Amino acid sequence: MSEMTIQWYPGHMTKTRRMMEQDLKLVDAVCELLDARIPLASRNPDIDAICGNKPRLVILNRMDMADAEMTRRWAAYFRGLGMEVICTDCKSRRGVNQFGPAVRRLLSEKLKRYAEKGQGGRPLKLMIVGIPNVGKSTFINQIAGRKGAKAENRPGVTRGKQWVTVDQGLLLLDTPGILWPKFEDPQVGLKLAYTGAVKDDVYDVEELACSLMELLWREYPAALTERYRIEAPADETGWELLQQAARRRGFLMAGGEVNTERMARVLLEEYRSCKLGVFSLEQPPAEGEGNDGQ
Ligand code: G4P
Repeated sequence: MSEMTIQWYPGHMTKTRRMMEQDLKLVDAVCELLDARIPLASRNPDIDAICGNKPRLVILNRMDMADAEMTRRWAAYFRGLGMEVICTDCKSRRGVNQFGPAVRRLLSEKLKRYAEKGQGGRPLKLMIVGIPNVGKSTFINQIAGRKGAKAENRPGVTRGKQWVTVDQGLLLLDTPGILWPKFEDPQVGLKLAYTGAVKDDVYDVEELACSLMELLWREYPAALTERYRIEAPADETGWELLQQAARRRGFLMAGGEVNTERMARVLLEEYRSCKLGVFSLEQPPAEGEGNDGQ
């Protein structure tokens, strides 16, 4: 998995935002790619302001890695905010062919107006936006039926606009809009690190693993019991859980001390490769609550 390599700074963000606002004038709708495991943490905090009144399609990507029931709840949440939603797995292409129908539903009023004006063949224009590593290039390649093109993780690079044909009547800007996450929020940073979207070396690996352990133990204890034979009270600390897992795995150092660092790396690897199972790390806010996830 590639890391979030962009070094965002205020100038970058302003420039990116301005460029995106230019691109927005060219399109009929914005398609926002999110990581289904962490739909809020993988979301740009200023997206509503950036998009203004443009119709929006939310694409909950990596559905293969997320808790299916939670992904359904997230889809309902975003629909409740007035957006169209599709769920996709770009590795297997599952859900990808829902894109065209969802866009046409989203822009049905516009299509009706085109038809009334005798402009039935007029294409709908779209752009993909999302934070680095969320799957933008893979998604574009899938829907445009091409291979290998990688969107550059460089914000603010000016290029001629190219359109790719998705199917008859749908055109997509071939370079996605790359947005920044809400990195001033420590919880967001942690979630991006758990999923591997940001480099491990930003965090202490044991601290990262401890907080992931705690989160998983709260939400999905059976998976940890099954894989690491953990038995502990529901409010056990991440550090205790990590030590227990290390002991069960036989990760001992000379002198008999448990090797928690090794266990921390194993936990992160097993979580990211879904060997532990498929989990969602955020749940949608209940009605009437703020937009803070959990
Ligand atoms: P970006 O343009 O938004 O930066 O993301 P990109 O498409 O490069 O995707 C980042 C990584 O995520 C890629 O893996 C890609 O294959 C993977 N990916 C994208 N969508 C999905 C999905 O729905 N499910 C799963 N499981 N993975 C997805 P990589 O490790 O960089 O490359 P590779 O292993 O595919 O060669």
